[in-house]
Amino acid sequence: MSLRDANRWTAIGGQAGSNAGGLYADDHGRAWYVKTPPSDDHARNEVLANRLYRLAGTSVAEVELVRRGGVLAVASAMLRGASLGEALAFPDNGVAADVCRDFAVDAWLANRDVLGTDLDNVLVTRDGGVVRIDQGGALAYRARGARKTDFGPEVIEFDTLRDARANAVAACVFGAMSRPALAASVAKVARLTEPAIGAVVREVLGDTGEARALTALLLARRDDLIRRVAAGSAAATRVRAFDTMEE
Ligand SMILES: Nc1ncnc2c1ncn2[C@@H]1O[C@H](COP(=O)(O)OP(=O)(O)O)[C@@H](O)[C@H]1O
Ligand SMILES: [Mg+2]
Repeated sequence: MSLRDANRWTAIGGQAGSNAGGLYADDHGRAWYVKTPPSDDHARNEVLANRLYRLAGTSVAEVELVRRGGVLAVASAMLRGASLGEALAFPDNGVAADVCRDFAVDAWLANRDVLGTDLDNVLVTRDGGVVRIDQGGALAYRARGARKTDFGPEVIEFDTLRDARANAVAACVFGAMSRPALAASVAKVARLTEPAIGAVVREVLGDTGEARALTALLLARRDDLIRRVAAGSAAATRVRAFDTMEE
């Protein structure tokens, strides 16, 4: 894979998030937000999460790995739009429901910072498209760079992203999701196959032991999500049966 060298791109704007970064124009005049995460591993992790979102059919920014100052950086093609925070100021526009459609993909990828502390990791474009633009807090790393100690086969994010005590920002959007909405969202992950996930992981991490381990983990997490909605609906059915008995 030959990566573009962003060293000579023209600086046109400054850092806009917590990672080192800035706005640059490439040789063709196209604008990119280029961020340099703490290590090459972080950069690959972020691009891989972006590719897995694409695989699931979630709308994400167009990103590529580039070289900058001898290290890997993540270039994200600039989109025009309002931040999620701005869009949610108009509660009737359906944006929250649109964000919720891909909730299970966020949980699958452990993207705890999906919305951003300031609701600035999702953009809403003029045509109403909802685009996730920051995958830095997905998979193995936290948004500020620390390695997660609890990224395992259990998708704890299925609960924590909806729980105001665990993740107040995420819960303000995902907290009110109904059982059917959760199930519809999990269906987006349930249909992803082992060969498809494996191919995407290898594309970014190479044919390595790390890629094989991560593919196995992602499959376990997919199956855990399926179990969680199945368990939920079984419980709901039991409650309904009980209600009927009482009548
Ligand atoms: N593709 C993009 N389109 C529009 N704005 C972007 C894009 N990528 C980044 N930005 C802007 O830059 C900010 C920082 O980028 P982000 O990837 O969130 O980095 P950080 O990890 O530092 O939070 C975003 O909140 C957004 O305002
Ligand atoms: Mg961000």
